[in-house]
Amino acid sequence: MNQTKGMVRMEMPVTREQIEFYRENGFVQIDNVLTQEEVAEMAEAMEEAMTEKSVNAVKTDKSGGSYYRVLNQKVNVWRDHGVMAKYSLHPKVAEIARLLSGASKMRLFHDHALWKMPEDSKATPWHQDAPYWPMNQTQALSAWIPVDDVDEKNGCMMFVPGSHKEGKLKGIDFLEPQNIFDYVQDKEANLKKPVVVPLKKGSCTFHSGLTFHYAYPNMSDKPRRVLALIYMPDGTTYSGAGHICTDNFGLQKDEPIRGGTFPILAREI
Ligand code: SIN
Ligand code: NI
Repeated sequence: MNQTKGMVRMEMPVTREQIEFYRENGFVQIDNVLTQEEVAEMAEAMEEAMTEKSVNAVKTDKSGGSYYRVLNQKVNVWRDHGVMAKYSLHPKVAEIARLLSGASKMRLFHDHALWKMPEDSKATPWHQDAPYWPMNQTQALSAWIPVDDVDEKNGCMMFVPGSHKEGKLKGIDFLEPQNIFDYVQDKEANLKKPVVVPLKKGSCTFHSGLTFHYAYPNMSDKPRRVLALIYMPDGTTYSGAGHICTDNFGLQKDEPIRGGTFPILAREI
């Protein structure tokens, strides 16, 4: 920690090279973001959050459903589980997201536990995230934080470097996926080979909402447990599109998405 005129400043949690890598490629791997103690605490809390009854968090499909085969997902676990709130609102992770995007203030849009269950698991098809978010701007990004080591056998991610430069394309149906590469005008010129990113627990990736990404099916005998956090720069405005986190929230089209429901978690000092 540095002291600056009474204010406590966090050590810069990413390097200049990592920021440049993110901006050039649309994703970046950051190692040892969480300690092993934090990972263990978060894993235990996420087990509870996934099995306990929710008041505010929303599960997107029931066990055995078609979407559940791709992802067993619960959105906004932080609103029901105090220990998950500690991680979903984690200042260091939010500050990394802020520095990567270059925003002066960063808000949480939502968290989601993204588990890939063992047996009968399907890949998460190639897609961009931005088409599903009800935002006019495209600077929002995700942190993807596994609490288990991940590789090609249990559902690690793959990214296409530079694909964020394609802009916002059409959303992909996760159950009957279209081929996102068909939407790219000049594939040979514009797209690089996908990069597989295995991770050790405690490490994570950040990816832009525009970056093409995919996750392998989980062929192991245990759940692949991930917490994903969606961040948006302060000032991001509502597009009017439907989304589980903004439906019935009373937002007018083009109004900033703000307030304590979408808290500011990092700000430039
Ligand atoms: C996954 O965890 O399988 C997919 C994550 C994502 O689409 O961002
Ligand atoms: Ni995604």
